[in-house]
Amino acid sequence: MKKLIIAGNWKLYITDAGQAKKLVSSIKRKAAAYRGTDIILFPPAPLLSHVIAAAGPSMSVGAQHVSAFSEGAYTGYDSSILVKNLGGRWALVGHSEQRTHENEDEVHAQVKEANDAGLSVLLCVGESERDPGGAHFALIERQLSSALAGYPKTASKLAIAYEPVWAIGKSAEEAMKPQDLEEMAIFIRRALTELFDRTAANKIPILYGGSVDATNARDLVKHGGVSGLLVGRTSADAASFLELIDSVQTDSR
Ligand code: PGA
Repeated sequence: MKKLIIAGNWKLYITDAGQAKKLVSSIKRKAAAYRGTDIILFPPAPLLSHVIAAAGPSMSVGAQHVSAFSEGAYTGYDSSILVKNLGGRWALVGHSEQRTHENEDEVHAQVKEANDAGLSVLLCVGESERDPGGAHFALIERQLSSALAGYPKTASKLAIAYEPVWAIGKSAEEAMKPQDLEEMAIFIRRALTELFDRTAANKIPILYGGSVDATNARDLVKHGGVSGLLVGRTSADAASFLELIDSVQTDSR
């Protein structure tokens, strides 16, 4: 069975290294038991080295944002190479909270830079609102084809997070419904086969993100056609995050 990916996007919920280390060690205590699940943590950049040191080999760590530049006169930017050299393994790219001020060309350049640096890319796509005429499908297709233009055809080190903006940061009742998610997951898979060989495209994990907690995670994974979840607020609290991971373990799928 394919491994499930549960990624925790801490956003800016954690503001202290001690708090971060505590959170990591609580997750780590149980991580080894989750054999069918890969856990990835995305802390705020200044906490990356603390989290990488605390996480050990049972979890991966990545940056919430990487710039399109590797090095140079770029005050305030972080690069994929820097993340990689710190021991990070992933880059979250194109999150909607970054797309508010970044365009598709920048997202594309960041994907390329992360891939060149040897990081795995978790590319976020998602519409701000659903359109009864289906325009949101075209938007998702464009976000994928624009960000992934020129990406190596093997599509290795790549995962997609479908995160409808309207479903982020709400309550579980307002998250996307599994049947709607399944339709979108099929659409994204088909769009990926336009960009990569079918075999390569079929291997790309598709995750869902947006108001996931322990009450809806299992149904989203079981009936939504996705192989993982990108979790925001719930991932910043050890008990809630572990409860969520428990709820999607193999025997419940
Ligand atoms: P949320 O965030 O789980 O708090 O809705 C998800 C995300 O934006 O990655």
